[in-house]
Amino acid sequence: MSQNEHILDDEAKAMAPSSRIKYFDMVIDHGKGALLYDADGKEYIDLLASASSANTGHSHPHVVEAIQKQAEKLIHFTPAYYANSTTSSLLQRLADLAPGDFPKKVALGNSGSDANDALIKYARAYTKRPYIISFTGAYHGSTYGSMTLSGVSLGMARQMGPLLPDIVKMPFPDVHKMLDDESEEDFSERLFAQFLEPIENWLPKEEVACVLIEAIQGDGGIVKVPDSYMHLLYDFCQMNGILFAVDEINQGFGRSGKTWAIDHFGIAPDLMTIGKSVASGMPLSALIGRAEIMEALDAPAHVFTTSGNPVCTAAAHATLDVVRDEKLAERSASLGELAEKFFVEEQKKHPDLITGVRMYGLDGGIDIAGKGKADQIIYRLFELGVIMITLRDTILRFQPPLVITEEQLHEAFKRLSQAFEDVAAGKVQIPSQNHIGW
Ligand SMILES: Cc1ncc(COP(=O)(O)O)c(C=O)c1O
Repeated sequence: MSQNEHILDDEAKAMAPSSRIKYFDMVIDHGKGALLYDADGKEYIDLLASASSANTGHSHPHVVEAIQKQAEKLIHFTPAYYANSTTSSLLQRLADLAPGDFPKKVALGNSGSDANDALIKYARAYTKRPYIISFTGAYHGSTYGSMTLSGVSLGMARQMGPLLPDIVKMPFPDVHKMLDDESEEDFSERLFAQFLEPIENWLPKEEVACVLIEAIQGDGGIVKVPDSYMHLLYDFCQMNGILFAVDEINQGFGRSGKTWAIDHFGIAPDLMTIGKSVASGMPLSALIGRAEIMEALDAPAHVFTTSGNPVCTAAAHATLDVVRDEKLAERSASLGELAEKFFVEEQKKHPDLITGVRMYGLDGGIDIAGKGKADQIIYRLFELGVIMITLRDTILRFQPPLVITEEQLHEAFKRLSQAFEDVAAGKVQIPSQNHIGW
């Protein structure tokens, strides 16, 4: 039995199965930049970046040093009672990095999920309205509030209800729903008419506190909102006193080739949630919002003992340094062009297998036709030493660490090309018949 198998066998005796989405049997031992090594010493190129929480790569030396120094100084004293210098100085830094030239305030949390719960609390408190609108296909997290906002898997709702009341999901303007020969403007208008239908019939707009959207839906398949739809939505919110909020947990910190995915639209949201890569994967999240909204609640409306832990905020300071100094957003944009070129070429070679390529920086969704074919591709990649997962069973998720070298990227392309070829030729069989993926 391999070390990987030993560890997984032992783990299975004590692990609740709800906590891991099943892909393949591998145990990560260590990582460096865009490379990972398993318990048996096999090397992998990482095209998942720990679900986009490792934009700075694995164990970036600057982040490691900041964590070590802070751990020696103070591991934790809860900011719920007393300030500490590392956490205090992060708040303004985050506020300044968020879009919008207006005063902002920040509430820290431990995970993206609780940041989205915070969003519900503050939006309701500030507007004194109950309804929150989110979108189908979205993943916003796993707490009661954030899973109620989500619309991507029955496994997140089954047997756990009732969920939070007064959260309404509208149809996401997903390009997969576009009709043949439909222009982007016509598609946006058609989908926005679907958005208005509940508003005109049973959902009073003056009772809607907030609309929450991902500018590029991550777990929904790396799908960007059409520009015209986004502006229809934003204008509607502006006209009706509804807060406009974005979830940048998956897409922020340079992932999409800009600092924030909403930067593609030139819109400054009233509220924004961040997490994942903010502290290079250390547990930290935040709700950032217009100061007046963030002043709508007093303590203890949103406190957690460990949120704003100084080791995590030291990691966040170092992460922000790396994102700035290594120009990760620009790097993502330029390497993303190489990736787009590669996948489009592969699509020409295998038009029956690859049916769509969406790439925004190093942030890609690749549509794969044929039942089980996407799983076969990621299985073949796993054999070849590449970590990649699927979304919605039919979409390849391409999100490498933004520090990936050009050489590593080209090596990944070589292995991807091999996997496409082998799957197109019908040569790949997945040994386990268990369901894999979401
Ligand atoms: C867009 C988005 N929002 C929220 C979350 C939840 O974040 P966390 O898993 O840190 O609670 C995720 C996680 O995948 C996400 O992709």
